[in-house]
Amino acid sequence: VSNGATAWRWHVNQLPAGVYKLHILGKKVAVIGAAGGIGQPLSLLLKLNPNVSSLSLYDLVNTPGVAADLSHINTNSKVKGFKGADSLGEAIAGADVIVIPAGVPRKPGMTRDDLFNTNANIVQSIGKAIAQNAPKAHVLIISNPVNSTVPIIAETLKKAGVFDPRRVFGVTTLDVVRASTFVSDIKGTDASKTKVTVVGGHSGVTIIPLLSQTGINFTQEEIEKLTHRIQYGGDEVVKAKDGTGSATLSMAQAGARFTNSLLEALEGKKGIVEPTYVYSPVAAKDGVAWFSTNVELGVNGVEKIHPLGELSEYEKKLYAEAVPELQKNIKKGEEHANKA
Ligand code: NAD
Ligand code: LMR
Repeated sequence: VSNGATAWRWHVNQLPAGVYKLHILGKKVAVIGAAGGIGQPLSLLLKLNPNVSSLSLYDLVNTPGVAADLSHINTNSKVKGFKGADSLGEAIAGADVIVIPAGVPRKPGMTRDDLFNTNANIVQSIGKAIAQNAPKAHVLIISNPVNSTVPIIAETLKKAGVFDPRRVFGVTTLDVVRASTFVSDIKGTDASKTKVTVVGGHSGVTIIPLLSQTGINFTQEEIEKLTHRIQYGGDEVVKAKDGTGSATLSMAQAGARFTNSLLEALEGKKGIVEPTYVYSPVAAKDGVAWFSTNVELGVNGVEKIHPLGELSEYEKKLYAEAVPELQKNIKKGEEHANKA
């Protein structure tokens, strides 16, 4: 039996008997908010993922139905639904990875920060449950405003004495997914192979696309238009959905991509790099403790945080605009967690 992800895939493909080994090596993943607009398609994608052996679906409503439905799919993972606050501890106990898309989404005219009052309490209560029932889990936070919800969970884990900065991640993958698509729209490149580094946070001016590092030539007008579109891509979807929510399907894909990258790294695969908002030294000199850059993932979670690399003059300006907003968002999250 091998611990390497590649090796056990080989077992599955080549040896029917190896299917049993897949169960031993796969991970337990819990989705919190699993019945929601993101939660359902994300759970579907995770049910299809061979790196998952056990899928635990938690929400305040409707999870028995979602779990029963997904459980009929003939992949080698077991699905279980948990409904209501009393079952949260059981849902996450023993989880290797906990993905959190719980909370309210935006309506037109709202900023992500407008969600703070509702979602801060939701993620804080989930953080407390993680501290008690799954202190070693890797925690992936999708709930907005990410710039603040991530520090809230981190402070909650800290208060319980179980915070490990290698295991807390804000999911910013959707920003790079969008950046790849928007660049390929105007440059005619293969969207699936177009890589754009996006750093900073996950809201408006805190989203900093580093187009100068793509190796693609842009005019200044293209750079400014693309930057704005990447920073405000979420608003395009909120507007188009016209009061019924924000991005769910593209977010599910982005969340499933990040979760899979982490699962592969946890299984021992080397060289896996994803952008993510983590406790980071990159912007610490400017008073910003949480920051997204490309991060190499490993068996313990965060393995190596990549630096910013060289920035153009325009990108230096974007960074300077992002810093005060990030400082404010992080402080707000930390203060909320520490007053309760
Ligand atoms: P939704 O309303 O469709 O689903 C949210 C789900 O969370 C619901 O099923 C609800 O019952 C559940 N929920 C509420 N309180 C809960 C609690 N205490 N415990 C467990 N579950 C709870 O919303 P959605 O469209 O799925 O969006 C969810 C969140 O994700 C929003 O905050 C949204 O802004 C955010 N989001 C983030 C990104 C990102 O890039 N990080 C992208 C899109 C959306
Ligand atoms: C997004 O980027 O689509 C999400 O953060 C949801 C939103 O509110 O825009």
